[in-house]
Amino acid sequence: MSDNTTRGFARRLTAYGDNDFAQFLRNCFLVARGYGPEALDRPVIAICDTGSDFNPCHATAPQLVEAISRGVSMAGGIPMVFPTISVHESFAHPTSMFLRNLMSMDTEEMLKALPLDAAVLIGGCDKTIPAQLMGAISANVPTLSVTVGPMLTGSHKGQRLGACTDCRRLWGEYRAGTISENELQAAQSQLMASHGTCMVMGTASTMACLAEMLGFMLPGGASIPAVHSERLRHAEASGRRAVEMARLGGPKPQEIVTPESVRNACVALQALGGSTNVAIHLAAIVGRAGIRLDLEDLDRLGNHTPILADLKPVGRLYMQDFHAAGGFPALLRELAKPGLIDTAVTAADGQSWADVLANWPDWRDPDVIRDFDQPVTGGSAIAVLHGSLVPGRAIIKQAAMSPELRQHEGPALVFDGLDDLNARIDHPDLDVTPDHVLVLRNAGPVGAPGMPEAGSIPIPRKLARSGVRDMVRISDARMSGTAYGAVVLHAAPEAALGGPLALVRDGDRIRLDVEARTLDLLVDKEELDRRRADWVAPAIPSRGYARLFATSVQQAELGCDFDFLTAVTQDEH
Ligand code: FES
Ligand code: MG
Repeated sequence: MSDNTTRGFARRLTAYGDNDFAQFLRNCFLVARGYGPEALDRPVIAICDTGSDFNPCHATAPQLVEAISRGVSMAGGIPMVFPTISVHESFAHPTSMFLRNLMSMDTEEMLKALPLDAAVLIGGCDKTIPAQLMGAISANVPTLSVTVGPMLTGSHKGQRLGACTDCRRLWGEYRAGTISENELQAAQSQLMASHGTCMVMGTASTMACLAEMLGFMLPGGASIPAVHSERLRHAEASGRRAVEMARLGGPKPQEIVTPESVRNACVALQALGGSTNVAIHLAAIVGRAGIRLDLEDLDRLGNHTPILADLKPVGRLYMQDFHAAGGFPALLRELAKPGLIDTAVTAADGQSWADVLANWPDWRDPDVIRDFDQPVTGGSAIAVLHGSLVPGRAIIKQAAMSPELRQHEGPALVFDGLDDLNARIDHPDLDVTPDHVLVLRNAGPVGAPGMPEAGSIPIPRKLARSGVRDMVRISDARMSGTAYGAVVLHAAPEAALGGPLALVRDGDRIRLDVEARTLDLLVDKEELDRRRADWVAPAIPSRGYARLFATSVQQAELGCDFDFLTAVTQDEH
């Protein structure tokens, strides 16, 4: 029998009350699997395979598993592949966010249960990277992230198309009647022209960059297109590095998530013009390490951080352009010049970011990754709002809204939930003008449940047909990182918890002032107290994961993590 007592996994025997028997039995099964019993004498690198027919973004997972495994073997380790659940944006009812915490629990518990020395997690589609990092931090085993990488763009009648900013734009045009159904169908095959994740600076791309920033991904990995051979070489190198981490016993996730690395991540989020969802995911991720993400800090950092990545939905271009322009390290170098990034922080290859950047190819395309003093836009990409409508705050991606709506006052038009929205938004008799403020409630973490990406409420068809393309919209929901508009999101406390959003009535005046960071419901307190007395809390699901979710999920500012999973205590809130 091989002696595994020096390896970490030897401490992770199945509990039979007889550890020698547990080891014996494990080796029996290992032999049955076709391995020699001494296989586990090497560093064991667990590779999390989230390939699934229900996750088209992860279609290249098999090739990545092969490349990571090759790297592990080359470095003298043994690769062991295991599955967890996989969550895709469009194949998850009611919403992928509902399943993110479940995936994080699956990842955490498998990392704690399996006899492994380090792990490489294959993720990519929006919720998968946050879920995996949350789980890895809680399990605290040496971990690298390898993402599937962004899709390539397609082309339709000479026009470049990409997911999903253009999906939303074309759908909006179709709703407005400016393109036909045939035209929409013809464009459909070009919106997602290859395997991989959405290739704008949506949630998947933003999260991949932040995984790199925090030190979970080898430098340069975030932007490599899914189908480039470079991605396989990156995966192979990640396998080799994981063996090195196994031999060193670290760094462990809780060592790399520090106030300095988190601050860097906030700066990067703003400079990328990244997804609003990432404000939630980042809070959940760092919360697992006991760090509370301060939204006001995020906003303040944004005021000094120009948006340098000229990518949709804020800018013009796509991830393959970002990669060709030098990738994420090239953007970091521009941010490091005025000292916005703390380059003493360690990258995933074990070097300081200062050393990584010193050795990174000395080239950048300033048309895609802008000079520090030639930003795509100035000011915070993501602004944090407070006021009488959102005492627990809300956020808006001000960089992707119509400038004329930055200060706006108008009458509320309230939708009580997703069904109400679906039923009435396009009704010809809907009493709505471009001045109205569209309010969607009961779409928050508890209310929907799972805080779906419904916040970018469609412009009512009759207004869309008359040329209206943006309106002020407010909800306790999220929106896709690929979307745009004057959309106030994550309003807290959410309506299902009795937040002020629950009390708004049609015709109430609402005032948004992005400059002042305020969002107010202009109804006097006595009237709101009367309405509150009549408010009835919605029923909580009676069983299963839905009940666990409704009774444990926290508001957006705490990352929508479960209260029993985060390491940030409620007292710190
Ligand atoms: Fe998977 Fe966009 S749907 S990344
Ligand atoms: Mg998305």
